[in-house]
Amino acid sequence: MTKRMGRADWRWLALWWHHFFLLWNTIDGQTRYSIPEELERGSVVGNLAKDLGLGLSDIFERKLRVASEAGKQYFSVDTGKGELVVNDRIDREALCGQSISCVLPLQVVIENPLQLHRIEVEIRDVNDNAPSFLKSEHVIKIAESTVVGVRFPLESAEDPDVGTNGLKTYTLSKDDCFTLKVKEIENGRKIPELVLNKSLDREKKAVHSLFLTAVDGGNPVKSGTSKITVNVLDNNDNVPLFENTFYKIAVPENTANGSFLLTTKATDVDEGPNGEIEYALGIHTSPSVRSLFHIDAVTGDIFLKKQLDHEMQASYRIDITANDKGLPRMEGHCSVQVDVLDVNDNAPEIILTSEPSSVREDSRSGTVVALLSVRDLDGGDNGKVTLQLSKGSLFSLKPSFSNNYALTTSGALDRETSSEYSIEITATDSGSPPLSSKKFIPVSIIDVNDNPPVFTQPAYNVYLKENNVPGSILYSVSASDLDLGDNAKISYSILDSKVQDVSVSSYVYINSDNGSIYSMHSFDYEKLKVFQIQVQAKDQGSPSLSSNATVHVFILDQNDNAPAVIYPSSAALGSLSHQRMPRSAKAGHLVTKVTAVDADSGHNAWISYRLAEATDASLFTVNLYTGEVRTKRAVSEQDDSSQRLLIEIKDDGEPVQSSTVTVSILLEDGLHEPILDLRHKLSEPSRKTGRITLYLILSLASVSVLSLVTLLILAVKCIRSSRSSGSCCMRRSDCDDYKNPNRNLQIQLNTDGPIKYVEVLGGDMLSQSQSFRSCMSPMSEYSDFTLIKPSSTTDFKEVISVLDASLPDSTWTFESQQVSREHQ
Ligand SMILES: *[C@@H]1O[C@H](CO)[C@@H](O)[C@H](O)[C@H]1NC(C)=O
Ligand SMILES: *[C@@H]1O[C@H](CO)[C@@H](O)[C@H](O)[C@H]1NC(C)=O
Ligand SMILES: *[C@@H]1O[C@H](CO)[C@@H](O)[C@H](O)[C@H]1NC(C)=O
Ligand SMILES: *[C@@H]1O[C@H](CO)[C@@H](O)[C@H](O)[C@H]1NC(C)=O
Repeated sequence: MTKRMGRADWRWLALWWHHFFLLWNTIDGQTRYSIPEELERGSVVGNLAKDLGLGLSDIFERKLRVASEAGKQYFSVDTGKGELVVNDRIDREALCGQSISCVLPLQVVIENPLQLHRIEVEIRDVNDNAPSFLKSEHVIKIAESTVVGVRFPLESAEDPDVGTNGLKTYTLSKDDCFTLKVKEIENGRKIPELVLNKSLDREKKAVHSLFLTAVDGGNPVKSGTSKITVNVLDNNDNVPLFENTFYKIAVPENTANGSFLLTTKATDVDEGPNGEIEYALGIHTSPSVRSLFHIDAVTGDIFLKKQLDHEMQASYRIDITANDKGLPRMEGHCSVQVDVLDVNDNAPEIILTSEPSSVREDSRSGTVVALLSVRDLDGGDNGKVTLQLSKGSLFSLKPSFSNNYALTTSGALDRETSSEYSIEITATDSGSPPLSSKKFIPVSIIDVNDNPPVFTQPAYNVYLKENNVPGSILYSVSASDLDLGDNAKISYSILDSKVQDVSVSSYVYINSDNGSIYSMHSFDYEKLKVFQIQVQAKDQGSPSLSSNATVHVFILDQNDNAPAVIYPSSAALGSLSHQRMPRSAKAGHLVTKVTAVDADSGHNAWISYRLAEATDASLFTVNLYTGEVRTKRAVSEQDDSSQRLLIEIKDDGEPVQSSTVTVSILLEDGLHEPILDLRHKLSEPSRKTGRITLYLILSLASVSVLSLVTLLILAVKCIRSSRSSGSCCMRRSDCDDYKNPNRNLQIQLNTDGPIKYVEVLGGDMLSQSQSFRSCMSPMSEYSDFTLIKPSSTTDFKEVISVLDASLPDSTWTFESQQVSREHQ
């Protein structure tokens, strides 16, 4: 510094010295020393004795001493040398503070004589203090939005030193954002100011650490440092940002209520509430979406709130917002697409588009019964539906336009088999697993009169005792009809036919409602043995149907006729019949033969003869069966010439009917054998009858060639069968019977329609002739000619078996007995 002193400086120094000496003189010997502060104790300030002009001895003798005006003795006098030395530590800053000059006045006292001197010690500053800050650390908060250029005053440092040793300037550690500006205020104080050079970004650097250094001007330089921490205050300047702006998720529609779907995540780089994110559905979200989805405000997890339905909506777009809690709130957006995947959750549905109608049972195949459609809410394969009818159904489905079908009949219906159908239709979709549903369609079948009434039997055999009471129930026929209602309502009637030239309706009457047949007539077996009634059952359908049945009424014989004596003739009732016999007759002589007939048949006509009374019971006997009266023994001379026999003739009926005949016998001498006469007599009409028969046969044959041919065929057949079976022989013997007048038993085979029966007639020539008459008469219903009608049965054996089955046992048994007896 001295080196660089210019001319002006030298002038200033010279002036200073001039003033100094001038002042020294004026103050009257006032001495002044200048020392730097902080000298060692004992350091010499100046030679006081010499400067005051005193000898060394004076110092001791005159008791030289210094007294401080301030009280504290910083200095003392070395009495040996007379030097002023530092007695205590002298801190200029403590003594004078910040004043530029620091002078300590001292009084020097010398006794003998008392002399007072005043000296001054100037304390010069030494750079012994570094600038210092009150706080070593300082925190400043600056909002990040603060504009560039704004100044923030900092704490200034203090340096007790003065002058050049005092605080000189400040420096700041290097920072991007801040610079330092030192402002000088009045009296030269320097105040450091932090200047924002660049806008702050908390998100880049939240804390700036700066060091402010205060430097003094001493030599060597001393400095003090304060740490300045700048905390950048967050400003809500960042929008929450989603990781993705668009999320996409596909969920099956059967996802359970409450299921977690996905997480949306947004981040906000701001701090504190500015970075706290709250998720929500966008404000324009539709209520339907709101009802379905729920977002957790804190986590951003999206949950399902309700069951989804692909069929209702297949895709949703959800807007999500993320708000921070700063002020103002910042908002970020994203959207989520939720695709609802179809699940086969809807079963197909069968809908009847027309009520099922009833169909007539005679409907043609293809008649429409009902119209139906099918639908499935699912899409794709899940909605593809196939219909199926149960197996073996009489119905079929005809597809029409899209998913519509017509249910038609596909076969013949029969109400009587099934009057109602419940048609099962199964609809199945093509989903996996497939869903199906069933529908039952009731179809009722309308009855059509397609069934005629059916009688319980095609033919009925009714046996009725003769002499019945008119008006009694004969029989009840019944018929049933499978149809319904009027189609099954049956009314009975009797078809008109003739019985012995009289309309059948005069014999019987039928209850049209229940088929009970009443007789209106008392029948006589001897006049009418069998007749048939055609019964018709008719339903009330439209058109009506009917069926016929035949009722064969067999009149059963009752023993209502007593045997009638034919021979010996009793022209006048009660008159005696006179028979003659020679006295020469031997035992066993045939006297006569009583012949009786019974109009009844069977047992009722089985006649037996008994000798009831006799003049001489030992002489005559009557054959029980033949009625032949023979002598028991030879007639003797003693025997009365007039013998009287009462013969009782009984039938085998129940009750027994009987009649009697009285035979008078005259025993004569030399009389011819009356038997020959009788035989002659008997053969005469027989031959005559035979001739008549021949004529009749011839005339009849000429009338009906057909009958003859049939007869021949029958005959041939009969002969042929006779070789193998004996039954036809019987028939042939029957034929013989007709020719043989001695036989009194005939078997008469009658045919009447399908019914055959054999009548056994017991009797003599009269009954035989009756029989022949009935045989030949084409008018008679029960003549043998009916036997040889083409419709009649040609096999006798067959006839017998039919008879066996249909006639009461007794008749046949009797006949066979009779036959066997005949053969004996
Ligand atoms: C910021 O500091 C740079 C140098 O570091 C300076 O050039 C610029 O002028 C300063 N800007 C302000 C606004 O003080
Ligand atoms: C779905 O679940 C929520 C609660 O988890 C309940 O409140 C709601 O009623 C449920 N919805 C249905 C349709 O089950
Ligand atoms: C038929 O009706 C009559 C009169 O109502 C009755 O006497 C008769 O017993 C009935 N027949 C049958 C089989 O029910
Ligand atoms: C029933 O008999 C009558 C009269 O003989 C006849 O017209 C009708 O065709 C017969 N009916 C049946 C079903 O045989």
